[in-house]
Amino acid sequence: MTTTEAPRVDAGWADEVRALAAAQDAVVLAHNYQLPEIQDVAHFTGDSLALSRIAAESPASTIVFCGVHFMAETAKILSPEKTVLIPDAKAGCSLADSITADQLREWKAEHPDAVVVSYVNTTAAVKAETDVCCTSSNAVEVVRSIPADREVLFLPDQFLGAHVRRITGRQNMHVWAGECHVHAGISGPALTAQSQAHPDADLYVHPECGCATSALYLAGAGAVPAEHVKILSTGGMLDAAREAQPGRTVLVATEVGMLHQLRRAAPEVDFRAVNDRASCHYMKMITPEKLLRALREGRDEVHVDPELAERGRAAVQRMIAIGQPGGGE
Ligand code: 13P
Ligand code: SF4
Repeated sequence: MTTTEAPRVDAGWADEVRALAAAQDAVVLAHNYQLPEIQDVAHFTGDSLALSRIAAESPASTIVFCGVHFMAETAKILSPEKTVLIPDAKAGCSLADSITADQLREWKAEHPDAVVVSYVNTTAAVKAETDVCCTSSNAVEVVRSIPADREVLFLPDQFLGAHVRRITGRQNMHVWAGECHVHAGISGPALTAQSQAHPDADLYVHPECGCATSALYLAGAGAVPAEHVKILSTGGMLDAAREAQPGRTVLVATEVGMLHQLRRAAPEVDFRAVNDRASCHYMKMITPEKLLRALREGRDEVHVDPELAERGRAAVQRMIAIGQPGGGE
């Protein structure tokens, strides 16, 4: 839905969500890809890194995570004493599904001295096998924090891995061949066609996208001025939007939920999706009705095996300690 479509909720819905949250000492967090109504009612909306930090620091005894399952699991790993709810526990992630803990153990056995860097889009079982987690906001800093002579296993996103390797120049980094089906579907040809139609536009490209390499190729070939191409996390896109000149056109290569936050941050800028069908059906499983149900019925509660949580906690804590505050913090 765009901001101009009819709202999906009654006038009293937001008041009821806020009142129930207050009565239950709950904080409502929403990822930038959530439905606009959910983003607007949440106490905090942001990127994966910002939301992990907010979840860890919040004094609320209950966290209602409007996002996908690995995000709620990460909050539970950081705060096992808190109640963590997700409005639909079936909200998964194709990227998190692209590597299992068994596959990671086999990979580690082939590289016994390597440092394992896992994107936060992984299951708790994979985090338990990880040395340090990262998000798209701080992946470069996380890899730079590892001594240059240590081999790195980077997983599971091949496009983010390629981006980190390009920026750091690191050769001893092995990258798992996983991908997010939504971002992989934002292709180089789609980006090229859009940038030809809008030759003066800025390009905000999420590093999980299949078109990130094409964006840099366009810049390298002179088809797009290099300063117009920005490879950014969702929080980074929001920071860039706040600096954008009114009247500019920006082509946005990420999940379409991001457009709501961008348009709110910079209403005078013309934000256009590179692929307007790039919608994550997992993110959209969190509906206004299910958010209300979560608060009324305390479901779905997220549990992480305490032994796995214990083993994954240090990796997640290292992640939230590295990198600048991001969008939403
Ligand atoms: P960020 O919010 O960290 O940019 O993550 C994007 C994403 O795909 C989360 O699922
Ligand atoms: Fe996972 Fe991709 Fe959806 Fe993000 S957009 S939650 S990476 S499937």
